[in-house]
Order: sequence, then structure tokens, then C-alpha cells
Amino acid sequence: MKTQLYINGEFTAPLKGGYFAAINPADESEFAQVASAESADVERAVKAARAAFDQGIWSEKTGAERALILRKVATGIRDNLQHLANLEMVDNGKPLPEAEWDINDAAVCFDYYANLAEKSDQQPVATVDVEDDRFDSRIWMEPVGVVAAITPWNFPMLMAVWKVAPALAAGCCVVLKPSELCSITCVELARIIHAAGVPAGVFNLLTGFGPDAGAPLSEHPLIDKIAFTGSVATGKSVMQAAATGIRSVSLELGGKSPFIIFGDCDLDKAVEWILFGIFWNKGEVCSATSRILVEDSIYPELLERLKTAAEQIVIGPGDKDGVKLGPLVSKSQYDKVLGFVERAKTSGARLVSGGAAASGFDKGYYIQPTIYADVPLDAEIWCEEIFGPVVCVVPFRDEQDALQKANASPFGLAGAVMSDDLDRCDRIAQKLRAGIVWINCSQPTFVQVPWGGFKSSGIGRELGEAGYNAYLETKQVTRFDHQQDWGWYASGESQNEQ
Ligand code: NAI
Ligand code: MG
Repeated sequence: MKTQLYINGEFTAPLKGGYFAAINPADESEFAQVASAESADVERAVKAARAAFDQGIWSEKTGAERALILRKVATGIRDNLQHLANLEMVDNGKPLPEAEWDINDAAVCFDYYANLAEKSDQQPVATVDVEDDRFDSRIWMEPVGVVAAITPWNFPMLMAVWKVAPALAAGCCVVLKPSELCSITCVELARIIHAAGVPAGVFNLLTGFGPDAGAPLSEHPLIDKIAFTGSVATGKSVMQAAATGIRSVSLELGGKSPFIIFGDCDLDKAVEWILFGIFWNKGEVCSATSRILVEDSIYPELLERLKTAAEQIVIGPGDKDGVKLGPLVSKSQYDKVLGFVERAKTSGARLVSGGAAASGFDKGYYIQPTIYADVPLDAEIWCEEIFGPVVCVVPFRDEQDALQKANASPFGLAGAVMSDDLDRCDRIAQKLRAGIVWINCSQPTFVQVPWGGFKSSGIGRELGEAGYNAYLETKQVTRFDHQQDWGWYASGESQNEQ
């Protein structure tokens, strides 16, 4: 299978004719050749999006008209759910049931933003009383323009949809650049968007590498906004590119999210949510709760139970029954995670479980679920995002101690707390410096509520109404009562008349 780019309503080969391999991390096999976009393709895609936007073929439709088409995209995704989930599993390695959640969430996301597009027909958003009666002022919301969406490999289709759905709903035109490690479901998304009747140029897809396609896209002067999810380092360079043209940017970057477990909670439930918080999607999750803080009173017992439970997790290819931990996405991610594990040997942390590649596989990037305890707070594994199935556990004394340790991080994407005392949970939630807080759970994510981080975890919010407003500009329209006189120059005696 050879994929193509999607530019100006057509599937098209890259101008320079480059392709790269799509790899299944479960067995290292190549299953597709993916079109590799370069700057000449970026030029074509951005110009198509610009022209579509400037001609108003999408932005000037009513919200209800856009909603109708976006609901067809949602239906197209649902109609292909098994096919898409299977492709996502093959490309990324995640267990099939998790891939099914992602694809279903992508459809829900299109429906949700279709509803908001419909609501947006009620313009103006507000009429504002200004302090001079001769004026009235209204507030209009308009699409921000041409959006570059640059997305990662951990939730390949869903992360693209979190940007594409609200951007299209708002009336923007989009150029999507997915990760070179997982491009396939985004190619399918282009097909579905095309079939739903989104006009030519409104949505464009450039598969390809960061330096070849992502960089020229984020530097392009005809882009109005860049929406990025990925690493802190790349986020910085994208923001720098945006700064050159004073363009708006939203960033969803890494995390090292804490999970505070109090002694009064149900230990079975704590084990379940701790495992889910770090081992679902192989720990390749920006919001993974990778730093566990456990109250002294239950620390030894909880560690014992975590070890037992982690060692029962079934590792294997995502389509095998009962598998809860698939292969990491790529050789380089696998090497990166094993590098952390290797260096942890001299960190002073105590290895409780795992700590190596999983045995029994000739091929594929499998790593054991790995747990460290008594981790020094300056250890690399405690401080840096690993993006793999590795969790660190430390004890705490009291609320204050827990919060101090939890907040001592440059990241602030998410945090979680578990206790039977709900007042205490609320106190902790209020004091965690993070954009997302889970109480008595970790990870459940809903399209209706805003998603994004404090500190170096990012700028801006996706999902919810905030994730829609992120693709809108605010305009004030201020009108003077033309039956009145302003009278600044025409007021009575001027020098000349005297
Ligand atoms: P990355 O940040 O390099 O990739 C994200 C996207 O940016 C991809 O589409 C990539 O092609 C693109 N990109 C790369 N260089 C670019 C540039 N100069 N200009 C514009 N776009 C560019 O992430 P990568 O290398 O795939 O993963 C490295 C680490 O990043 C992971 O180990 C993990 O720690 C973190 N990460 C965090 C994610 C999150 O959800 N916050 C998602 C993926 C990775
Ligand atoms: Mg792959």
C-alpha cells in the first residue's frame, strides 16, 4: 500500500516523490509506504487552504451547514470503526480495545463541535453597554483563518481530530501534519472528510517528517495559527516559528503528572487506577500519572499489591485476547525508555517490578511494566517524562508534604488524588498546579471539558468550548448613532471664521 497526500480536494503524490515505511511495532513489519511531504508540498497545501479561506467557501457557510457536513464525518468514522481501530493498533501498537475507544472518541468529537458550530449562528455573541449612550457595541466571533495542526503518534487519529474538528466547526481551513511514526489513520481521515463533502482546500493532509514538512509548515507566512501537540523541544521551535510571524499558537506538551494516594482509600481501587494511569496506551500518554505519592501508613502494602498486579498484566500484540500492554510505538521510543531504565540502576531508586525488555518476543518493542520505589526526588526517572510503562512511587507524611512533592515539577498537565474524604480531595485539587485534576480516578477524558496544561506543559486549551474558541478571533463592532454629531472639529468658532 502506498499512501498519498491530500491537497486541495485531491489525493496527490509528493512532488519530489519520496516515501517512507510505516512500521508495525508488534512485529517490526512494514505495512505501507507513506508519502513524504517536503516544502514544495507544504507550499501547495498552505496556498490551497489560504485560497479556500479567503474565498469564504467554508467560513461563510452557516454553522448549521458546516455542522451537517461534520456530522457526516462523524458517521463516516463510526461506519469504519473496526477498520480504523485495527489500523491504529497496527501502526501504533496499542491494544485493540483502546484503539476502539480512540476512534469512537474521534466520532464523538466531530459531533460535539458540529453542535457548537450550529450554536454559533446566533451572532452577535454579545451586545455590550459602553459608557457613552451615542454608541453601541457588539461582539462577533470569527474563524481565526488558516490553521496548521501538527500532531503526535500516541493517539494518532484522536489528537488530529481534537484540532481538526473544532477548527473546521469554527470555519477555519486546516493543513494537518501527523507524526511520521503513525500516519495511516490520518490518511483515512482525509478520505472520510473528502467523502463527507468538505470543499476542496478546506482540509489538507501532509504526511511526512518534522524537519521536512512540520518546520516549513510552522514557518509559513500564510498560516494564521499553529496548533501543536508533542515534545517540549519541538513545541519550543514551533513557538519560535510562530513568533517570527506573530501568529497564534497553542501547545500541548509533556507532563510528569502526580497521583496522590491517601491511606483511607480502598487499596484495590488504588491499584487499579494507578496501573491504568501509567500502563494504558503503554504509558505513551502526555497525562500519564507517572509519579505516585503514597501516604506512609499504606506505602509498603500498596507497593506489594502493585507488584503483584503489574506482574499479571498480559504483554503482547494489540489484537491478542487479554493483552493490556502492547509494544512501544517505535525502535527509538523503545531505546529511549530502556535508556531511562538502564540509568535508573545507579539512581538510588529501588526496582520493584519489571525493569527490562519483555521476554518471549523475537520481534517487536515490548517492555515490562516497570515500578520503582523510594525514588530520590532528583533522580532522572522522577523528574523527566519517560513516555513509557515506567512508574515511580514515593511515600509522603501529610497533605502539605504530598502537595509540595507533587507541585515540584516544571510540568503541570495533570494530577490526581485518591481518598474517601472528598473535602480533602477538593483541597488537594485546588492546590495542584495543573490544568487537569482527577479525583478517585486517573485519565478519563471527555470532549465536553477543557484539556491543557499549566507551566511547561503548554499554552491554551483543547476540547470543550475553550477548544472551540481557540479557533475563533474576537471582533468588536462599535456603531455611532449617525443622527448625533461628534463635533470635535465642527464645533463652533474656529480660528478661520474669526
Ligand atoms: P515530536 O515533538 O518531535 O513530534 C510531534 C510532531 O511534531 C510530529 O508530527 C513531528 O513530525 C513534528 N515535528 C518534529 N520536528 C518538528 C519541527 N522542527 N517543526 C515542526 N514540527 C516538527 O515528538 P517525537 O520525537 O515523536 O517524540 C519525542 C518525545 O516527545 C516522546 O518521547 C515524548 O516524551 C514526547 N511526546 C509527547 C507527546 C504529548 O502528547 N505531549 C506526544 C508525542 C511525544
Ligand atoms: Mg508505526
